[in-house]
Amino acid sequence: MKNTVITFSQAKEKNERLSMLTAYDYSTAKLIDEAGIDAILVGDSLGMVCLGYENTLSVTMEDMIHHTAAVSRGCKNALIISDMPFMSYQTSVYDAVVNAGRLIKEGGAHAVKLEGGREFVPHVKAIVNASIPVMAHIGLTPQSINAFGGFKVQGKSAEAAKKLIEDAVLLQEAGAFSVLMECVPAKLAEIITKKLSVPTIGIGAGAGCDGQVLVYQDMLAMYSDFTPKFVKKYADIGDVMRNAFKNYKEEVSKGIFPEEKHGFSIDADIIEKLY
Ligand code: KIV
Repeated sequence: MKNTVITFSQAKEKNERLSMLTAYDYSTAKLIDEAGIDAILVGDSLGMVCLGYENTLSVTMEDMIHHTAAVSRGCKNALIISDMPFMSYQTSVYDAVVNAGRLIKEGGAHAVKLEGGREFVPHVKAIVNASIPVMAHIGLTPQSINAFGGFKVQGKSAEAAKKLIEDAVLLQEAGAFSVLMECVPAKLAEIITKKLSVPTIGIGAGAGCDGQVLVYQDMLAMYSDFTPKFVKKYADIGDVMRNAFKNYKEEVSKGIFPEEKHGFSIDADIIEKLY
C-alpha cells in the first residue's frame, strides 16, 4: 500500500511503529521498498556516505534532486522524504519554499525534511502553506556541526532539554507532520513523543519514539569512516562486498572469469571471413 503522511498520523493513532531508512540510489531504494519499509529518507548524509565529504555541508540542491529522483524511480510504496541541504532554506523563507518545491517537482519527493528549531518556524509554515509536507529535525542537527563544535548528544541540561521540548511543540504547531530527533537522551525523546500528536522518528533517541531511522550504509556495515553508538549492524555487507571484489580480482588475474557461458557466440563461417 502506498504510504503517505496520513499513514504517519494513523500509525501514531494506532500506536504502530514506523520504519524509515535512508537511500540515495535506484537499486537500494527498490530493495528497501520491496522490504516494506514505511519511508525512505534521501538524507544529506549522502554527502558523507556516497560522496565522501567529511560532513554534510557541501551537499547541493542539485545533488539532492539527482539522488531523490533516482530513489523515486525505485519506489512504489515508501513515502519519500528529501533533505533540504545546507543553505537551501536558512537564507530566507522564500528560498525555503522554492527549494522545497524543487525537491518535489524535480526530485519526485513526497515531503521534505529540514534541520532546526523555533528559528525555522516561519520557513516550515510557508512550506506547509505551499502544500508540501515537512518533517522537522531537532537535537543533533549535523548542518550546525560548526556551531555545535562536533557531533554531540543534545538536550542534556535542564535548559537545553526544555528548549528541545518547546521547539518540538512549536514545529508541530507550524505544521510539521513529523519530528525527527537525532542524538537526544531516550527519556527526553519519550517525553517529547508523548507531548506531540504527530509521530516522532528517532535516531539515537531511544525506543520511546514512534519510529526509527538508520543510514543504510551504517546498518549494513558499508561505511567505515565513523560508526555512531546508536547504530545496530544488521549485516556485514561491507565484508561481503570486499570479499566478492577480491574474488573477482583473483579470477580475472588467473583467467578464471569470464567463462564461455558469460560470453556471446558468433557463427564460425563469419569468423573465417575475417581472416
Ligand atoms: O541525512 C540523514 O541521513 C539524516 C539522518 C541521520 C536522520 O538526517
